[in-house]
Amino acid sequence: MIYNNPFIGLSNFISPIVMQGFVIAMIALVILGTLLDIIHKKNVKYFFNNAKKAKKNAKIQLTTSQKTSVILKTVASDIATTSELGRGKRRVAHVLGMYGTILFWIGSVVMIFCYSNPSSETPSFWPIIWHIGAIMTVIGGGWFWFFLRVDVYSEAQPWYRIIKADLFVLALIASSLTGLIWSYLQSLDLNDRWDDKVFLVLFIVSNLVLFGGVYWSKFAHMFYKPGAAIQKNLAEADGSRDNLPPPADAPEQFGLGIKREEPKHY
Ligand code: HEM
Repeated sequence: MIYNNPFIGLSNFISPIVMQGFVIAMIALVILGTLLDIIHKKNVKYFFNNAKKAKKNAKIQLTTSQKTSVILKTVASDIATTSELGRGKRRVAHVLGMYGTILFWIGSVVMIFCYSNPSSETPSFWPIIWHIGAIMTVIGGGWFWFFLRVDVYSEAQPWYRIIKADLFVLALIASSLTGLIWSYLQSLDLNDRWDDKVFLVLFIVSNLVLFGGVYWSKFAHMFYKPGAAIQKNLAEADGSRDNLPPPADAPEQFGLGIKREEPKHY
């Protein structure tokens, strides 16, 4: 299964042009959903106004090379390893899901645009990337969904309680899981049986929900978070600290209660 390019099988009844059109439509949906979200929340306007205000309070004028160094460090740590999530399992689960999704998406785009013709030979690297990416996304996303999200971990809600905020993680898991099952059933060579077609339909539907739901889901955090991390680190480096006061010059005394339980109530 891991060497199977599922889009080759699909090309027997759907033309590669249609598959490529679907990918372009999904990218357009992401752009549209993010723009609508930006207009609705006015978050980017707030972000730039805040950055302008903070700049006035800067204690140091950063040179271009200092700014570049801060940005590179942010990319290497805050963005590439989501360091905001600390050292624990929350970060491991996120990194698994994030890189899994990136591999899955890159694998899909390359196989659909370069190797979806019935006559093409797919280098085994791409199906492997696609399957490993999907497995990592299911593990990282499932770990987060069943054990780590705030409602379950901190508020003791059951894992099956679903709210609108879960749209992103659930659609993400669904698209990778249905993709994997579709590829597995296809690799069994079931000829005219219907099983793989059912999972193909579920795969398409979950992608439509994932990419069509950007306006309502947390999808766009993957664009906002890197911007916010760069702004925060620049504000720390130039001393403006996002207009926040500096840390108190006093010992950290939180009382004995802090030792009783790991902090997890938000
Ligand atoms: C392909 C890129 C990414 C994917 C697929 C992804 C996926 C996810 C998912 C599924 C969640 C859980 C959402 C929920 O609360 O229901 C999440 C949360 C989060 N993401 Fe991402 N993410 C990506 C990029 C990023 C980046 C670049 C950053 C930071 C720079 C980031 C920071 C966060 C944070 C801080 C949370 C909250 C985590 C928590 O509550 O434990 N993500 N992400």
